[in-house]
Amino acid sequence: MRRCAVEAAAPAPLVAAASHFLRPGAAGKRLRPALVLLVGTAVAGGGPAPADLEVDTRPPGAPPLGPRRRLQALAEVAETIHVASLLHDDVIDAAATRRGGAAAHVAVGSAKVAVLAGDFLLARASLTLAALRHHGVTALMSRAIADLVSGEVAQATASGEDLVSLASYEHRAYLKTGTLFANAAAGAALLAGGGGGGGGGRGGGVGEEAGASRLPLWAGPDGPAAAAAGWALEGTAGHPPASPAPLSPPDLAAAAAAAASFGASLGLAFQVVDDALDYSSPASLLGKPALADAAGGLVTAPVLLALGAQPELGALARRRFKRAGDPGRAAELVRLGGGVPAARALAARHAADAVAALGRLPPTTDPAAMMARAALAEMAGRVVERVQ
Ligand code: FPP
Ligand code: MG
Repeated sequence: MRRCAVEAAAPAPLVAAASHFLRPGAAGKRLRPALVLLVGTAVAGGGPAPADLEVDTRPPGAPPLGPRRRLQALAEVAETIHVASLLHDDVIDAAATRRGGAAAHVAVGSAKVAVLAGDFLLARASLTLAALRHHGVTALMSRAIADLVSGEVAQATASGEDLVSLASYEHRAYLKTGTLFANAAAGAALLAGGGGGGGGGRGGGVGEEAGASRLPLWAGPDGPAAAAAGWALEGTAGHPPASPAPLSPPDLAAAAAAAASFGASLGLAFQVVDDALDYSSPASLLGKPALADAAGGLVTAPVLLALGAQPELGALARRRFKRAGDPGRAAELVRLGGGVPAARALAARHAADAVAALGRLPPTTDPAAMMARAALAEMAGRVVERVQ
């Protein structure tokens, strides 16, 4: 793995805020890096050589040396973008705690420094991304950042029927969470498969899942599956050698599209469970405040899935639980309406979609690739079962 992305000649408060969620004990589940590394192995087989397990102490702008180092760099980029989004999110949500400790803006005593630290991390991620010299992967990760911001704004501004529609909620959940999983997974497939990225084309509109208007955002013609498949078919000109056994362009396109679908479905399952946990787990287990979503005006899966049995939830949701007593009443109605088990069942359906996407990866007999595919399937199961 690589050394901390933050080491830099930057002011001490900035380094403190930027590294707040990267330090041991506060580093979280590291799901996104695990996803990138496993997808890479699932596509290309092999795995890390002993030398690849040494800490890479070179600066983030230095080009990664071999195929595994390139995947590790993308894993670092995905986690760095995620942490940047958390720094911003805790300021936006005025959240005091995360991962069992103080939020970064509380720890450094400045919302301004925390937000700027998020920007700083995005810049560090861009530097590492630039060193990969892969336009397709850069495009995918840029798309993920734009989606994260759009999702946060959509969540803050949704109104009327959008607030009580499950499809609109899932769209927002994809933008908030699914996109980073989807685009990072697709990027890992492109890197590991060894093609695409040098031509500078637009990279989009191609792929097994493109073109069907009934498909969800992430699988449609503008989604990451189609974009990644497009980049896979761009050709290899100018691209640094990535894989000892590159896939053919059609296989690479199929692998990238399948990886994007896996990531999107895994991310949705993760977000739906996160929203269920808000209504079912205590703050001591979550490491952040419980019952915070309704109090923060968020209408999530447990509410929407209890709404049929408890129609009173509709009025509460439409006014974003603004009146005194609304959040407590919402929690009670969610309990009576079975919103939490229904949300877990919805998450299980997304996890099953994720596992089905693994079946669309090109066939392999490589033992490491087969093990990685099994581990990805297990990851989908664990995301649904988690309690914290
Ligand atoms: C957590 O959601 C937040 C996110 C999944 C994404 C936040 C995105 C932004 C703030 C946009 C800015 C993005 C970048 C890359 C700087 P939550 O508040 O529902 O969950 P929580 O309980 O974990 O806070
Ligand atoms: Mg939040």
